[in-house]
Amino acid sequence: MSTETPAKLRSRAWFDNPANIDMTALYLERYLNFGISLEELRSGRPIIGIAQTGSDLSPCNRHHLVLAERLREGIRDAGGLAIEFPVHPIQETGKRPTAGLDRNLAYLGLVEILYGYPLDGVVLTIGCDKTTPACLMAAATVNIPAIALSVGPMLNGWHKGERTGSGTIVWKARQMLAAGEIDDAQFIQLVASSAPSTGYCNTMGTATTMNSLAEALGMSLPGSAAIPAPYRDRQESAYWTGKRIVEMVAEDLKPSDILTLDAFHNAIAVNSAIGGSTNAPIHLAALARHVGVELPLKDWEHKGHQVPLLVNLQPAGEYLGEDYYRAGGVPAVVGQLMRHGLIAEDALTVNGRSIGDNCRDATIEDEKVIRPFDNPLRDEAGFIVLSGNLFDAAIMKTSVISPEFRDRYLSNPDDPEAFEGPAVVFDGPEDYHDRIDDPAVGITTETLLFMRGAGPIGYPGAAEVVNMRPPAYLITEGVHALPCIGDGRQSGTSGSPSILNASPEAAALGGLALLRTGDRVRIDLRQRRADVLIPDSELAERRAALQAEGGYGYPASQTPWQEMQRGCVGQLSTGAILEGAEKYQRIAQTKGVPRDNH
Ligand code: FES
Ligand code: MG
Repeated sequence: MSTETPAKLRSRAWFDNPANIDMTALYLERYLNFGISLEELRSGRPIIGIAQTGSDLSPCNRHHLVLAERLREGIRDAGGLAIEFPVHPIQETGKRPTAGLDRNLAYLGLVEILYGYPLDGVVLTIGCDKTTPACLMAAATVNIPAIALSVGPMLNGWHKGERTGSGTIVWKARQMLAAGEIDDAQFIQLVASSAPSTGYCNTMGTATTMNSLAEALGMSLPGSAAIPAPYRDRQESAYWTGKRIVEMVAEDLKPSDILTLDAFHNAIAVNSAIGGSTNAPIHLAALARHVGVELPLKDWEHKGHQVPLLVNLQPAGEYLGEDYYRAGGVPAVVGQLMRHGLIAEDALTVNGRSIGDNCRDATIEDEKVIRPFDNPLRDEAGFIVLSGNLFDAAIMKTSVISPEFRDRYLSNPDDPEAFEGPAVVFDGPEDYHDRIDDPAVGITTETLLFMRGAGPIGYPGAAEVVNMRPPAYLITEGVHALPCIGDGRQSGTSGSPSILNASPEAAALGGLALLRTGDRVRIDLRQRRADVLIPDSELAERRAALQAEGGYGYPASQTPWQEMQRGCVGQLSTGAILEGAEKYQRIAQTKGVPRDNH
């Protein structure tokens, strides 16, 4: 691969502009401060940004502070100059009211950095759930050469000889606590056992999902997504990532060259095969819109539903991140799908080769962890997309529903039954926590649990609160799940059979706003329908009454950003992006460089 620099690097507009020598001097003098010499800055070497998402506030990505050293070495060895800068921290489990609020904020900040500073290319340090889409979305908008480096998952968690996985153990442990099987101290100990090292969640939660999909999209080096954070190979992948971005600048290989419709369809197929998170459709929709690719939600069903589940990771299966890497990671999965025509092989990746060339010979190293295509954990493991009078669009992850349930409601044509029952409606997680165990609420095995007020506007930010456990009195009788439906999200680490991301949300006066506890609801998975069994005339009356009251009530904004984002955020089915931002695409090409600052 040639490392010749292209005729004109965008950083030259800052550091080498003979037409405006006093501005060039002003730019140069301050960047000399941290040790890059004048000669280097004026040498025409590409300036490579390291978008640093790790910090003490973001333990999942904190190892990037270490990996950045190897990145810098790779960048310098390939002839580039590295400049590291912070990205607004997003930590999934620490940020209130939800990390979902911050994805678009980090995106916005990174767009300004990538566009407004003398950067020719960027390494996106991805990891914890929202850091991956935020970084990819910004790189897509600005469209300078970009490569993603995953921080990698934590080592496997263990407790009494069994694997304990991030998040998944929490959902299990809270049932054990509710049933009185463990006390508070044991609860904390059990959960803590799942986090033995630096890195992101070791289950197939949103982090492993999005890092796998970044590789499937072609945005990270092949085989790099699954390497556990503390492994030696992780350091090595940082070095090669640093080297490669310098070459990408020379080749002018940009996100828009990689993030094509084929790449998104590949990611959808991989998401089904890995048992990926229900957050993926939100983030891929957002990314597609920022790069100008038409990706309707229905593509998740058309391209993804028929794909079998191959990766045996919690929550859908048994294993964890170290096992996934050992078994072959993303290339092994893509290799299986390719042999069955489920991958667009020509899609280009950051290494300059096609995904087909990268993965054609990839093999599975442990068939217990990554199953061969002909012996999957489950057939037809992708999402289905539902609509009805409760919402225009929502998705359901079918890989986590029980075989009995699938047979009865989804796949067996001889038993074309829909499930139907009375609704119990919660307005936000506080309401749910207050009332879930109260026998007076009347929850039975027939009940469908609803969560609303949890979307991008209502929460605000769309929180992962739709996965609700049954009341303790049912858990002790052996009932471990009830159908959950809501306008918020669900943690990727949860295995609940839920209908999620309902759009439009209650706060935008979607059908969920009109639902009342006690209404009968019918979910017909075969017809992909979800309806409340109430005449249209009554729904219209309820809607008029609600509008007269001023709409569906939700908490007041607590920060400027909450208010600003509420004013322009879209719904989950279309990526929940800042709607005004979509028209700014490929700005490094369409807008030139910004004007001088003095
Ligand atoms: Fe950060 Fe799971 S909480 S990766
Ligand atoms: Mg989460």
